[in-house]
Amino acid sequence: MNIIESITNIYHEKFGHTPAHIARAPGRVNLLGEHVDYNNGFVLPAAIDRATYVAFSPTNARHSTLVAVDFNQQASFSPQTLPSKTQADSSSLPEWALYPAGVMWVLLEENLPILSMNAVYASDVPRGSGLSSSASVEMAFMIAWQTLGVWTLPSMQRALLGQKAENKYVGVNCGIMDQFASACGVENKLLLLDCRSLEWKTIPLPEKVSIVIADTTIRRKLTSGEYNKRRAACEEAVRLLKSVLPNIMSLRDVSVDDFNRLAMKLPVEIEKSARHVVEEIERSKQAQALLEAGDVENFGRLMNECHVSLRDLYKVSCPELNVMAGIAQSIKGCYGARLTGAGFGGCTVNLVARDRVDDFAQSLASGYESETGIHPEIHITRASNGAELLE
Ligand code: GLA
Repeated sequence: MNIIESITNIYHEKFGHTPAHIARAPGRVNLLGEHVDYNNGFVLPAAIDRATYVAFSPTNARHSTLVAVDFNQQASFSPQTLPSKTQADSSSLPEWALYPAGVMWVLLEENLPILSMNAVYASDVPRGSGLSSSASVEMAFMIAWQTLGVWTLPSMQRALLGQKAENKYVGVNCGIMDQFASACGVENKLLLLDCRSLEWKTIPLPEKVSIVIADTTIRRKLTSGEYNKRRAACEEAVRLLKSVLPNIMSLRDVSVDDFNRLAMKLPVEIEKSARHVVEEIERSKQAQALLEAGDVENFGRLMNECHVSLRDLYKVSCPELNVMAGIAQSIKGCYGARLTGAGFGGCTVNLVARDRVDDFAQSLASGYESETGIHPEIHITRASNGAELLE
């Protein structure tokens, strides 16, 4: 049974009728521009063919009741219980429910009409793997409430509101990339987003390559503290560099040459973090021309450089991610391999010659398993459309 059939059946058992609608919102993989979205840089993600699905109908009840199949749990909340993050029975909302509740909260803040819903949802985006399962939950519920409220927001606006829900309601200080990719994804295309102007365009993935995602299966808890520390280091670098470059607003405004000239003004750990960001923004500026010219060799080289930089300068890798990227880079047909997403565990993204992709997946899985004793998950992925209501 596929995921849509399964949530439809569970919905029927639980609520006694067929759900009125199904919404879908994908996870994402990022090819280049890592940890630069909150520094106003450029990112190059794609929405992937794994997604969160919500079966839902309006209800006259005061509370919305949500069943999370993947947690085997249920929660209910209303506009009145949202501020205290509690349920109808005054118990605390479980952590998974903060994401849909945050979406309702942010839409109410916008004064948009919100109807209560009964919903059942499930996801095949692996959780905590750096593929933005949280953003996919947010964007799927955004579509669900939009459908019931009979209003329409542009996809970028939905992304920004999802980010606000995550920042202000869930309490994770993420940038815009994940919600953007989940909301705005385009089939078979990479997305290039300028995180300062929010202008974006699609870039076709060169014909001869496939994107392969390799999951180390390592999950790190409590990474948001480390994430926030990296953000704070970037802000501190801007503050210190402003004494000599008064016009800079973010690390986006610092050229590699200026950075090299001024690096000694920064404490060593801050210097390393900021160097990653400045150089990664430079790499991501080169990406568009390389991809449009079909130069996957040089684009792949930038991906490999990005991994080294995330490992040694930004310090968000882990031994298993390094093993996975290292093995991949040594396999014939692999142009580039690096950790993707926030890091500390999760997945690598690999750009692989299309005609070598099956051999690549097999060699990578067996190499990783023999070095770590862990059986990895390898997905050959396709860039998919963004969040939508399914007919
Ligand atoms: C997480 C955040 C994104 C981005 C990446 C790192 O996925 O949610 O906003 O900062 O980490 O590039």
